[in-house]
Amino acid sequence: MADARPFHWEFTPEAPPPEAFRIEGGRPLRGTVQVSGAKNAALKLLAAAVLTGERCRFENVPEIEDVRVLTEVLADLGVVVDHPEHGVYEIAAGDVDWLFIPLEAAAKMRASFILFGPLLARFGRVIISNPGGDRIGRRPVNLHVDAMRALGAEVEYRNGYYYAQAPGRLRGGEVIFPQVTVMGTENAMLAATLADGHTIIRPAAQEPEVDDLILFLREMGADVQRTAPDTIEVHGKRRLRGGRHSVIPDRIETGTFLVAAAITGGKLTLENAACEHVEALLEIFTRAGIPVACGRTSLEIDATGLRPGDLRATDIASAPYPGLATDVMPPVCVLLTQANGTSRVHETIFEDRIEWLAELRKLGARIDIEDARHASIHGATRLHGGEASISDLRAGASLILAALAADGASLIHGAHHVHRGYENIDRKFSRLGAGIVRTADRS
Ligand code: UD1
Repeated sequence: MADARPFHWEFTPEAPPPEAFRIEGGRPLRGTVQVSGAKNAALKLLAAAVLTGERCRFENVPEIEDVRVLTEVLADLGVVVDHPEHGVYEIAAGDVDWLFIPLEAAAKMRASFILFGPLLARFGRVIISNPGGDRIGRRPVNLHVDAMRALGAEVEYRNGYYYAQAPGRLRGGEVIFPQVTVMGTENAMLAATLADGHTIIRPAAQEPEVDDLILFLREMGADVQRTAPDTIEVHGKRRLRGGRHSVIPDRIETGTFLVAAAITGGKLTLENAACEHVEALLEIFTRAGIPVACGRTSLEIDATGLRPGDLRATDIASAPYPGLATDVMPPVCVLLTQANGTSRVHETIFEDRIEWLAELRKLGARIDIEDARHASIHGATRLHGGEASISDLRAGASLILAALAADGASLIHGAHHVHRGYENIDRKFSRLGAGIVRTADRS
């Protein structure tokens, strides 16, 4: 029988030894690269597996640190996690030993909060850490909590933990979000699949990863439908079955490689990529004057004919899907350092995603950071090698991009941030001709 008491929980204490990327820039990238499965789909699919006691099999799962952390959290709950081959995970949550997600897990990866809905729906209770610890407001999850309450859960907050229970069963209900939230939508939808009755979620996030999760939930026997672009409806079932699913391609990694080709004057074929998921990004490429050809499951970009000054500046703003993804804004900022004129950047979703541009300046970019959401990029600039530090996943990939395009050598500190979400990024780039190695960071 699962126990919901909190206890002192030792999360794997090891901190990985610091690593840096050493990059020799200025080489055009050429060749073919396989895009990995989408991080933001894989994490939710693995969480969905706890909705059933039957075995679930996932293919095309990216081999990244966030997946490792989530599977470790699942294993610590008592869920059986098998990893029979590269990119394949099998999950069997017949019963669990604990219904407790400790701060150590939540602080390592905010996305652990995606276990809230499915654990509560299946087992009727859960204790889960606020990802920001006892500091309400940092990394807010209020919309997730409100959604569970709308489905009949009783949720109390004490000392950094949410104590949630659903006496009997969750009840279907109306989940109305004050703003679009991706994981909030997913958590509500996961919970509603086992709730008693009909749930309507509005506005529901429209990201392709949400629809990938819907596909798998239907495979599990759930009655879930997107009944309008911003509306998801669920008729709860008493139980769900196991299933198998292949994760969709990562559209942010796709964007990262497209920018890499464009700024190094290279030519790349991206395989296992979904053109229809990167339309907003392709529109920016078109506006900047870079041709990209779409195949059925591949993309081709040829920037070998582009001369310095050919690219045109363009203004960009992030938006919920189908708008330009906030996660692809940092790579696009690097692209805009190579465009003629001033490009205005507006980050509409998060308040902490502009500061990293100060690091990009260390490689020669000319950027005015106006406030927490706005910046201007003046181009075209010749980037030069330098030393910069990574503060988060997407900024990290973008500093690598800048160093790949720069003249000379760069040292980019904080490699571990990038491993959270990119599979073997250094190996993928070096196979395309980049001068990049991962080294111990002793500075
Ligand atoms: C997901 C993605 C992340 C992406 C983001 C926006 C995963 C694991 N992560 O994050 O890569 O950048 O979508 O596309 O899928 N908010 C609240 N309260 C909440 C929840 C969110 O105020 O309870 C706010 C956030 O601070 C943010 C906005 O809502 O300003 C949108 O965030 P949300 O869509 O929820 O992002 P995530 O799902 O966490």
